[in-house]
Amino acid sequence: MSRKKVDSKEVGLELGLVLGRYFLKTDDLHYGYWPKDLEVDVVNFPKAQKNYSDFIFSHIPKNIHRILDVGSGSGNFSKRLIENKYLVDCVSPSRYLTNQIREKLGDSANIFPCMYEDVKTEKRYDLALFSESFQYINIQVALEKSLELLSENGYILICDFFRTDAEGKSPLGGGHSLSNFQEILSQFSFEEIENIDITKETAPTIQILDDFLSEVGFPFRDMIRRYFQSNYPGFSKLLNWKFKERFKKINRVYFSGNKNIDAFMKYKTYRLFLYRKK
Ligand SMILES: C[S@@+](CC[C@H](N)C(=O)[O-])C[C@H]1O[C@@H](n2cnc3c(N)ncnc32)[C@H](O)[C@@H]1O
Repeated sequence: MSRKKVDSKEVGLELGLVLGRYFLKTDDLHYGYWPKDLEVDVVNFPKAQKNYSDFIFSHIPKNIHRILDVGSGSGNFSKRLIENKYLVDCVSPSRYLTNQIREKLGDSANIFPCMYEDVKTEKRYDLALFSESFQYINIQVALEKSLELLSENGYILICDFFRTDAEGKSPLGGGHSLSNFQEILSQFSFEEIENIDITKETAPTIQILDDFLSEVGFPFRDMIRRYFQSNYPGFSKLLNWKFKERFKKINRVYFSGNKNIDAFMKYKTYRLFLYRKK
């Protein structure tokens, strides 16, 4: 019998929610938006995330009623939309997050517990919202699906980071290539209404991650390593041998110290895009 593997990105998001809730009392799963006067400190992260939500909210076009929140995280933003009298449906492929949304929204929103690619419905929406979820979906499929599900003159709002064409290998993963996205988009009948670059305002989130890795991640890794080496030397050697490549990758990805704000500014561009179906 074949078993479906659990997707590591989904687990990462679920873990992000559990940790964020416990340590920071935040239910959001997106970057923070840091204006100049907000000190870049982990205690301000929930405030920065709220700014991000406010920013998106303020760019929802007028005369919109039905919104499809694609990749709705724990349902926080959908809740806000519902409180503001929008009719909202959610798309949520993660079972854990879907349960969180159900708990939070009850029957005030319909949930498609599947990937966007697999949504099947006769309903049509005035806005398909992708709040940091666009990067997880194939561009072509996301645009085709949106054309199908949008009402006449419906909108797509994407707030997410993309890869720039900067030379070299980015130490930070994630995001579609912006130029590729724009090329594919040009083959669709969407009109660009807004294109706002918020890379500078979102980049401090990476500094928070960088600080966390150097102040918590490094010491934690070294403590565990020392403990195993001194108390279980044989087992420790075996582990190092068996998972040599895996450990190398973890060190390269998380502990090389190059996941920083400069790398983000060079290799990523965080945008809010609003498009109207022509
Ligand atoms: C970074 S979280 C953003 C959550 C929320 N929109 C927010 O702003 O806090 C990414 C979301 O995209 C969802 N997602 C991942 N792949 C998806 C797909 N193929 N179709 C729809 N949603 C997807 C995840 O389950 C998660 O809810």
